[in-house]
Amino acid sequence: MFVIAPLLTAVLALSVSASSVEIPSPSITLPFARSLNTQGGTVNLLQHDQARAAALRDRGNAIAAGRLYRRQGSIPVTNEAFSYIAAVGIGSPATTYKLIVDTGSSNTWVGSGTPYKVTSTSVNTGEPVSVTYGSGSFSGTEYTDTVTLGSLTITKQSIGVASKSSGFSGVDGILGIGPEDLTEGTLTNEPTTEIPTVTQNLYTEGKIPAEIVSVSFEPTTSTSSMNGELTFGGVDSSKYSGTLNYTPLTTTSPASYYWGINESIAYGSTTILPTTAGIVDTGTTLILIATNAFNEYKSLTGAVSDPTTGLLRITTSQYNALQNLYFNINGVTYTLTPNGQIWPRSLNAYIGGSPSYVYLIVNDIGSKSGSGLDFINGQTFLERFYSVFDTTNSRVGFATTPYTDATTN
Ligand SMILES: *[C@@H]1O[C@H](CO)[C@@H](O)[C@H](O)[C@H]1NC(C)=O
Repeated sequence: MFVIAPLLTAVLALSVSASSVEIPSPSITLPFARSLNTQGGTVNLLQHDQARAAALRDRGNAIAAGRLYRRQGSIPVTNEAFSYIAAVGIGSPATTYKLIVDTGSSNTWVGSGTPYKVTSTSVNTGEPVSVTYGSGSFSGTEYTDTVTLGSLTITKQSIGVASKSSGFSGVDGILGIGPEDLTEGTLTNEPTTEIPTVTQNLYTEGKIPAEIVSVSFEPTTSTSSMNGELTFGGVDSSKYSGTLNYTPLTTTSPASYYWGINESIAYGSTTILPTTAGIVDTGTTLILIATNAFNEYKSLTGAVSDPTTGLLRITTSQYNALQNLYFNINGVTYTLTPNGQIWPRSLNAYIGGSPSYVYLIVNDIGSKSGSGLDFINGQTFLERFYSVFDTTNSRVGFATTPYTDATTN
């Protein structure tokens, strides 16, 4: 089993006791860590992210068609490259589990690493549960238990307890903060039942004033760092600069089953992706765009496909000539600088890259535009823009941060 980096273990331990960020009560914040999964040699970013994109699209299409989503065939199992991991307490007394913070799925579950510890608050519902993620899966039994997020507790939260899982080494499971619809069909014997998410329960139990989760990531060049913050119930204005701008959730399927929005993308003065639907996703590392947009980006940047990493590769002089990438979302332009478009150069070795090249974090989603899910704004986008996932008002918000223009990579 993967041994989590000592630094991360230390910061996670710290995070459980420290909650020093001042934000208006009664929203709560939960610090979380970013960790590069270096298990099993080099990280295949692209394989993981493309498998995830395909699974997200298939799952959304299956829900839209009223079919259960049971992905068939052999899928490469690839751990996330960078996992954003929150320390979540479950049970009484609570055991702390390291859970991936995932806006692209909605089941919360444990058991892939640290075994689930049954305590006096654990109730076995006997319901079999299973979820397939594209590059991994879990199956087991649904329990209800007390879940502790920072200073708040949810009693009788429905959680999955895995008896089998793949693709999740180094973590204990997932904190699913996507829309509740995505839980439909995950209880094997209850195909139309949905499972209330942690955010929904916090709201219905009156513990947060609105069904909102806000996410702050910061870029980092270390393999593990405690640099994220989740806020339930509101926003933390100390984490962004300027104005928060919102966009309504898209009505285009299958993006509409996730945190889906409409946006267009321009490289320099050239529109490479006219306004279309896609999603914002904390479980994807790269920024993935429709194949036709990707081909234009590749040609405009002069990049070549690097067979070792799967990423686009440019030389240092091409990097010096790189233009901004503009994301237009509901009339507001978010500018991703050249430095924001590259993989941290000090981490090139982890993806099998060479120190003499610069690798781009924009890649191909694997299908051409018009699929109803034509882009994923993944972690590399969210590290540059604060994001707000607002179920109450059916919208997603973004704001610039002190890191938007930072030269960190
Ligand atoms: C998003 O784009 C689709 C397709 O162009 C359009 O029908 C829809 O009105 C747009 N806005 C929203 C909020 O979905």
